[in-house]
Amino acid sequence: MKTNGNTILITGGATGIGLAFAEKLVEYGNKVIICGRREEKLKEAQNKFPKIKTKVCDVSSQTDREILYEWVKKEHPDLNILVNNAGVQRPINFKEGIKALTSGDSEIETNFTAPIYLTALFIPLLLEQEEAAIINVSSGLRSRAIARIPVYCATKAGLHSFTESLREQLRDTRIKVFEVVPPRVATSLGREPDVISGGIPPSDMADALLLGIKNDGFEIIVSQANPRFP
Ligand SMILES: NC(=O)c1ccc[n+]([C@@H]2O[C@H](COP(=O)([O-])OP(=O)(O)OC[C@H]3O[C@@H](n4cnc5c(N)ncnc54)[C@H](OP(=O)(O)O)[C@@H]3O)[C@@H](O)[C@H]2O)c1
Repeated sequence: MKTNGNTILITGGATGIGLAFAEKLVEYGNKVIICGRREEKLKEAQNKFPKIKTKVCDVSSQTDREILYEWVKKEHPDLNILVNNAGVQRPINFKEGIKALTSGDSEIETNFTAPIYLTALFIPLLLEQEEAAIINVSSGLRSRAIARIPVYCATKAGLHSFTESLREQLRDTRIKVFEVVPPRVATSLGREPDVISGGIPPSDMADALLLGIKNDGFEIIVSQANPRFP
């Protein structure tokens, strides 16, 4: 797949892995749109990289997803790549009952439902383009169960399964379906805002993504040890 001249929407693109993707894709001559819930983070990203377009959107809300789609269709009708990157992670102790599950961001809605609904919304637009792609960001935890973050792991396993089926279903179309499988990356996922923890640099993830897209490596599994060359 070409790595320049695309028009790309990255959900959750104002921070972490999404922002590193956005920066790299702009550098390669792509038009990049990012969305997220926090307007100040989107503005910060745009101040750093003025070519990036932004849109406030909570992807866990169906109303917001539909507004986002209508806006993109009107303002950026040449959109040919959707990157489902927005994600949340939080510890949930099921011994504490239903409140533990419902008292924070919904990982199910953000990590699993949103990519599926956005895929369904954007496919008609993607089918109009000469070459298109859907890129889903899952996780190494798609195949590893961790007791502290049970719902997170389950959403990534589900997203992996959905991505595989979608790839097969779209095989006879112009839409390529990629899955990006990051190792531990130094972002604030699962932490307080702006608290970054250890892991590979997001820029290494961005390099691996670019290489994966260029080579049509539909499953981009990034290694902790040698992240730039999956
Ligand atoms: N960091 C890792 O070690 C790691 C490993 C494997 C996979 N991943 C995956 O990589 C992706 C990016 O995560 P990251 O590590 O870069 O963490 P991050 O910096 O926290 O990025 C997550 C982004 O998603 C956005 N977001 C969260 N909920 C949203 C919602 N409801 N609507 C719209 N945007 C939303 C956040 O912005 P707002 O809060 O402003 O909405 C934020 O910009 C996630 O899917 C994550 O599961 C990360």
